[in-house]
Amino acid sequence: MIPDMSGRRARRPVVEPNPLDGQHAQWVRTYATRRDFLGAAASEPARRAAERFQTEGARELLELGPGQGRDSLFFAAAGLTVTAIDFAEDGLDQIAHKAERAGLNQAITTVQHDVRRPLPLPNASFDACFAHLLFSMALTTEELERLSADVLRVLRPDGLVVYTARSTADPHYGAGIAHGDGMFETDGFIVHFFDRALIDRLATGSELLEVAEYEEGKLPRRLFGVTMHKR
Ligand SMILES: C[S@@+](CC[C@H](N)C(=O)[O-])C[C@H]1O[C@@H](n2cnc3c(N)ncnc32)[C@H](O)[C@@H]1O
Repeated sequence: MIPDMSGRRARRPVVEPNPLDGQHAQWVRTYATRRDFLGAAASEPARRAAERFQTEGARELLELGPGQGRDSLFFAAAGLTVTAIDFAEDGLDQIAHKAERAGLNQAITTVQHDVRRPLPLPNASFDACFAHLLFSMALTTEELERLSADVLRVLRPDGLVVYTARSTADPHYGAGIAHGDGMFETDGFIVHFFDRALIDRLATGSELLEVAEYEEGKLPRRLFGVTMHKR
């Protein structure tokens, strides 16, 4: 309590912690205790993206939100040079160990970074960006718009963007704790669910090539798989 001039006690304004900020700790805890939380094998969207990367001659790949590296290792084994950016240091350590064991440590660089801040990367330095589920994390629409623009900045002309996001057709959409802006929390994980309008909004500066639909996991999660070219 702060005494005010009238002698009454004024209340100090309470600043509520932003629940979106708690997600770093949630992911670090998860990776510290759950081996291959989302599976060990490469995801279906990564397999499809790799075919397109090969067709288009992509060599340097930026991966956002690689988690424990199921797709990073796959891309590196397919001959791509991967820069993997995630804010969960435990997952990144696991990726580095897996890369070492597989003899792929020259092909994978891990960077700890929160994508709500500008990417710590030079302009026009990648041929492609892949992000499986990162866009569906606790990122507001405004943060997603900033991130999408920043991804285009670090891509070379005609660079490819492939991302997946959980859709409003997902069984968890509307369940659990509502955080506004299309975000809902189940079991401590906040997810931003995408509709088609959000995909179009994030395609500013790109040419949309494909919007596919995937199912993943036991629930199953229902995902959009978006492929775009930088214009
Ligand atoms: C659902 S997991 C997907 C992991 C991986 N792509 C996969 O499919 O196995 C999402 C990942 O995004 C990361 N992440 C969430 N919010 C982030 C942020 N603001 N900045 C950087 N990474 C973030 C989490 O640490 C987690 O590894």
